Amino acid sequence: MRKRETKNLKREPANSPAPRPALRTPCLIARALLDWFAVNARDLPWRRTRDPYAIWASEIMLQQTQVKTVIPYWERWMRELPTLQSLAEAKPDTIHKLWEGLGYYTRVRNLQKAAQQICANHGGVFPREFDAILALPGIGRYTAGAIASIAFNQPAPILDGNVIRVLCRLHGIAEDPQEKRTNARLWQLAGELASAAATLTQHALRKTTGEITRQSKPKINKGSDLPTALPCSALNQSLMELGALICTPRTPSCGVCPVAKHCVARRENRVDALPRPKQRAAVTERGFMVFLVEQRGRFLVQQRGANVVNAHLWEFPNLEANGKADVVELAQLEFGAKPTATQPLCTIKHAITRYRITAEAYRVEFGAQRIEGGKNRRWCRHDELARLAFTSAHRRIADKLRGQPCG
Ligand code: ADE
Repeated sequence: MRKRETKNLKREPANSPAPRPALRTPCLIARALLDWFAVNARDLPWRRTRDPYAIWASEIMLQQTQVKTVIPYWERWMRELPTLQSLAEAKPDTIHKLWEGLGYYTRVRNLQKAAQQICANHGGVFPREFDAILALPGIGRYTAGAIASIAFNQPAPILDGNVIRVLCRLHGIAEDPQEKRTNARLWQLAGELASAAATLTQHALRKTTGEITRQSKPKINKGSDLPTALPCSALNQSLMELGALICTPRTPSCGVCPVAKHCVARRENRVDALPRPKQRAAVTERGFMVFLVEQRGRFLVQQRGANVVNAHLWEFPNLEANGKADVVELAQLEFGAKPTATQPLCTIKHAITRYRITAEAYRVEFGAQRIEGGKNRRWCRHDELARLAFTSAHRRIADKLRGQPCG
């Protein structure tokens, strides 16, 4: 009855407990994931390097941002700031401009702070130890695990939204993944897979990879000529990749999933119900009035302060409208002067966290009245606007100015 299971096991004394299949499962799953990843990994630019700095930059960009959006940002970043040292020494304006449009700008400030710490405390060499990586600004357990595994092939687990979905389905976990005990269990499961990958020998890996390559030719745009990733690196990336390509939130492709035969959710027909959906914060609508003031061919812009959303970025003067729709009244409040003419330019809708924002942009003129710049304000020619790092909404407004007759 137990023939298949005992085949590769040492003979046990008759009265010892039966071997627990659960101990073997992480190895089987890890092997299946590695074989699949060897053939199906997308050819992403950061997969062509083992430079921890480059991998770190990609991981920070990939937080809350899609792969296809990140690719050109990452390529430009690596061209402009190819080393840790160049990042440590870059001007704040430079790093914000390179990040413009990615959002969550604390990420880029922490990236620079961490680069400066590595230069000051680690001789400019990216640390290899997990705890030293974790101690850097802006690096949490996920990112430290991603860098330790992808750049240094250490069996450090990762757990992000994609991996949570894969593991909840694979193990049939219906509890809230953010709840403490369930979250700890998910880290534990991710850790078992990372450790299992570390035990697979290079020989076994090469063999399976070779068989797969011979049996099924990689499809176009799959990373067939990617450098081979080492096992812990490949294992974690395979989890991310499975979540992104196969085990997707809606209509997952279970028919081609490499671990379908181990998947509890599939066996129990619960794939659509797992993981348990997040409780979403209630959406709040907010309205802003944005003023495009032009005098002698220059536009008034202002830089946002520290410790606010989109800190350090540039924008046009604006006010939260709080239900008031009268542009003349709001302009008077903002500038202490009554506009002589106003003209609607555009309406921009966007969302930040739980806020759904509508920004009404108006060109406003003040005739001969003098409008003060101020400490964080500047008058800029239209072509200079392109060189500043603008918030996404105000960049869209600036783009609408192109081709618009002035004044
Ligand atoms: N998402 C987060 N990290 C990633 C990576 N290294 N590759 C692809 N998608 C990711």
